[in-house]
Amino acid sequence: MEYFIESAALDQLTSDCVIVGIYENQALTAAADLLDQRTQHLVSKILQRGDLKGKNGETVLINFVPDSTIARILLVGLGKQAPLSKKDFRKALAAAIKTLKEHTLTNACCTLAEVEVSGADWTWKTRRIVEVFDDALYQLKPLKSIPDSSYALQKMTIWTPSKSLEAANIGLKQGVAIADAVALTKKLADLPGNICTPTYLAEQATQLAATKTSLRIEILEEADMQTLGMGALLSVSRGSRQPAKLIALHYQGGNPQAKPIVIIGKGLTFDAGGISLKPAEGMDEMKYDMCGGASVLGILQAAAQLALPLNIIGLVPTSENMPDGDANKPGDIVTSMSGKTIEILNTDAEGRLILCDTLTYAQKYNPDVVIDMATLTGACIVALGRVPSALFGNDDQLCQDLINASESASDSVWRLPLWEEYQEQLKSNFADLANIGGKDGGSITAACFLARFAETFRWAHLDIAGTAWRSGGTNKGATGRPVPLVMQYLLNRASGLNA
Ligand code: BES
Ligand code: MN
Ligand code: ZN
Repeated sequence: MEYFIESAALDQLTSDCVIVGIYENQALTAAADLLDQRTQHLVSKILQRGDLKGKNGETVLINFVPDSTIARILLVGLGKQAPLSKKDFRKALAAAIKTLKEHTLTNACCTLAEVEVSGADWTWKTRRIVEVFDDALYQLKPLKSIPDSSYALQKMTIWTPSKSLEAANIGLKQGVAIADAVALTKKLADLPGNICTPTYLAEQATQLAATKTSLRIEILEEADMQTLGMGALLSVSRGSRQPAKLIALHYQGGNPQAKPIVIIGKGLTFDAGGISLKPAEGMDEMKYDMCGGASVLGILQAAAQLALPLNIIGLVPTSENMPDGDANKPGDIVTSMSGKTIEILNTDAEGRLILCDTLTYAQKYNPDVVIDMATLTGACIVALGRVPSALFGNDDQLCQDLINASESASDSVWRLPLWEEYQEQLKSNFADLANIGGKDGGSITAACFLARFAETFRWAHLDIAGTAWRSGGTNKGATGRPVPLVMQYLLNRASGLNA
């Protein structure tokens, strides 16, 4: 869908549908009130019938407006007449777009940016409208011969008074870039493992770099990894017919002397577990084990689209993890690029093996900070459920900056500890460390493993196992998280908020 800002008087608009808000006490927003007056009180009459209580998320579509260039009015319940929480604002927007999708209109005008939201300005509200609407309209290019129902909506205008035009335009630009990034991430993650292979991911990254002059790409092949001594990464792809790749996307928008922000994403295009094979049930979902990697592509695309004044390097180690006669085996000992030896006690703990060599590789860029995103552990879902991503890090300021960004982006995180006591669990009889730390605190010991390869720079790790996709049922699919969070962090960095 395409998004525009509109500042013409509301009653002079031509639109298939205008979206307006109603509070729980039946109070009308300014836009609802104006349309009410111009339509011989159509809106209040409908409210008097009791068809809409004004509870957050309720909707009523007025399907016919006599003598008007506005064909329909969508009433959306906002809840209590007080500044809305960011969550309630999202809920109201999600309800509005859900209703619109079910009708045959091609354009609409949203007036909900006028609603007061705690701690949010016009830029934020405009951006959020684009993000929430676009998220709801996402469709994977159909792989079904008879596609599921589609929608007709093509154009959304966001109504803005002239005094807020500048703020709205910034929000629009950010919203579109973030929504596009989320859509790219979801698309790559939803594609099945037989289509989205490591080679496919590398091709997609190459295409992305070709469309943006500010992006440069480099792809390391297995032979290059061999030369670099990436024994941990290579041990994961041994069992697969698909060659592993290490994708490096460079975005240079900042001072050439400025240290880069390195963003790393786990790119397992399919994780069968290897010789430590996973159970059959739900194994299909392991095509999403590249959500972190897909997020890197989305983030670099958005950074280029917004011309952020930062230097960013995106690294995606990508591989399959398959059982095979040549696959790595429990008990195998490999030497990582850092020189540390690793005893592979479980071949299903492969994410940390491809990430540890990538962390070591990141060192060569002399990074300002390194942030990795990985669907790393099932234990993360046990600990935190599917609401926040788990945050770990060796630098309190960086973690705090990410927490702040997550709050403004409504893409939550919860910090877990990396205390040295946990390192005990990673001790091996035969190698420098083991790749698993037993059943206790699995998400933490995985992060502690990574920490051993991130000792020379400021580093944060996001375990997105529970947040990068919706599991099971018909609702299954990628969410695009943590793209909004990382984009907010980068926007904050760009505006000089965090040193
Ligand atoms: N990709 C999985 C983690 C995962 C599990 C993500 C479920 C999303 C949903 C990862 O590679 C893995 O298999 N981790 C193991 C680690 C264990 C062997 C220590 C796990 O979580 O079971
Ligand atoms: Mn695994
Ligand atoms: Zn995995």
